[in-house]
Amino acid sequence: MSISTNSSQPESVDQNNLPSLIWPDPSPLPRFSHPLHLGVMASGNGSNFEVLVKATERKQLDASIDVLVVNNPDCEARRRAERLGIPCVVHDHRKFSSREQLDQALVSTFKKMSVEGIVMAGWMRIVTPILVEAFTDRLLNIHPSLLPSFTGLDAVGQALKAGVSITGCSVHRVTAEVDAGPVIAQAAVPILCSDDHQRLSQRIQSQEHKLLPLAVAIAGQSWRSQVNSGVEG
Ligand code: GAR
Repeated sequence: MSISTNSSQPESVDQNNLPSLIWPDPSPLPRFSHPLHLGVMASGNGSNFEVLVKATERKQLDASIDVLVVNNPDCEARRRAERLGIPCVVHDHRKFSSREQLDQALVSTFKKMSVEGIVMAGWMRIVTPILVEAFTDRLLNIHPSLLPSFTGLDAVGQALKAGVSITGCSVHRVTAEVDAGPVIAQAAVPILCSDDHQRLSQRIQSQEHKLLPLAVAIAGQSWRSQVNSGVEG
């Protein structure tokens, strides 16, 4: 897919020196009185899941990834969990007769593991109020656009087609409406004349990998402050 506008860009652009902006950026990340207990949901590759695990291992993110749930038994995310030593539960969506039943199974798994918050890191299924309401404000999603632009499927393709100069990625709280919950943090990614879907997706993913631990830490601060003020989710 080619880009329809952006013709005023300089002819040569140093791909390794593009402007970048992540905001808010609370580095160094906050420490908690005890680590956040997190669950992660993934459907495919799982690179964002692995980034979270690595951020906890090097103590950038003060958290423990207690469980990964996947809906595709044969996904790379599951293999990553095995390699990283993270418990993985498979809830194959094909084995449930409705979205609600799948979400009920997710709720049971996450409640059993006593997670404080959940990150949808490439979860490619629409979730229902069953999951959203069981973890109000505690269910996060990463999406490859600057929301509220380009919600839903193929956000990267939508941005290329629209001919915008800047796109990016967002982490937001999940509400019943798809990709519409409050934004926690975003990263901007310039679109180059030379971009195609693959190149742009890769640059967005590198920003996702920086953004996600920051956004989880920001959300964690708000979860802990609710607990400390007696408002528990
Ligand atoms: C990520 O780019 C994420 O933003 C996107 O799926 C990819 C998963 O990559 N999510 C969505 O499009 C959700 N609407 P990963 O499996 O390598 O982490």
